[in-house]
Amino acid sequence: MTSPLPAHLPFSTLVRDATKAEHTRAENSTFMSDMLSGRLGLEAYTRYTEQLWFVYQALEEAAGRLGGDPVAGPFVRRELFRLPSLERDLDHLHGTPAWRGTVTPLASTETYANRITEVSRDWPGGYVAHHYTRYLGDLSGGQVVRGSAERNWGFARKGDGVRFYVFEDIPNPAAFKRGYRELLDSVPADDEEKWRIVGECGRAFTLNTAVFEELAAPAPTAG
Ligand code: HEM
Repeated sequence: MTSPLPAHLPFSTLVRDATKAEHTRAENSTFMSDMLSGRLGLEAYTRYTEQLWFVYQALEEAAGRLGGDPVAGPFVRRELFRLPSLERDLDHLHGTPAWRGTVTPLASTETYANRITEVSRDWPGGYVAHHYTRYLGDLSGGQVVRGSAERNWGFARKGDGVRFYVFEDIPNPAAFKRGYRELLDSVPADDEEKWRIVGECGRAFTLNTAVFEELAAPAPTAG
């Protein structure tokens, strides 16, 4: 038996409030802080962008399957898709398209991507949790990351290297986010399912933080 949702609390507010502490932890992780302050070099930003590529492959492959689903389908919007932009950024960061054959996911990234794929197969509400955690974050704090990357490494404003953070087909992100929150508020789920979704959002944040921790860890030395 789960508790009912607090009366009059929109689901979008519940989700945001329930993940606030996790958000602060992700935002203040050593890797993020060191990367955004410029303490880490372009090489760290490239490694981070590579890991995002694996995450968005999982998210957007699943989107292809879930477009007609009554719960997850309304969230699947072509203008959010990030894979083509990520690939352009990685072509630019590596200076060659050959990275496709060489980059590998970290263990934490693999765990994260596998979880997205797993829920997308049998739990559309779980997919919504992962969708929210990434795309609403990209539309929000992602803009802070873009600004720092442009300043730290001299990318052209909204150009190659930071296209992942540029939603060309969303001219008004604030309005888009309002519409997204309305979608969350009207998700066809009972209170028990909504609490499960909140729990999965927490898990999604933890999975992101684990990737930051692994990115911050010194690479193992040979021998
Ligand atoms: C340095 C890193 C980050 C910064 C500076 C940052 C900053 C922000 C800011 C300022 C907002 C509020 C925007 C608004 O109210 O419209 C926001 C929202 C959000 N962020 Fe982040 N963020 C960061 C990292 C992350 C990470 C790693 C995730 C998860 C993967 C994330 C997920 C979210 C989500 C889901 C929201 C939407 C909250 C809501 O309104 O429901 N953020 N972020």
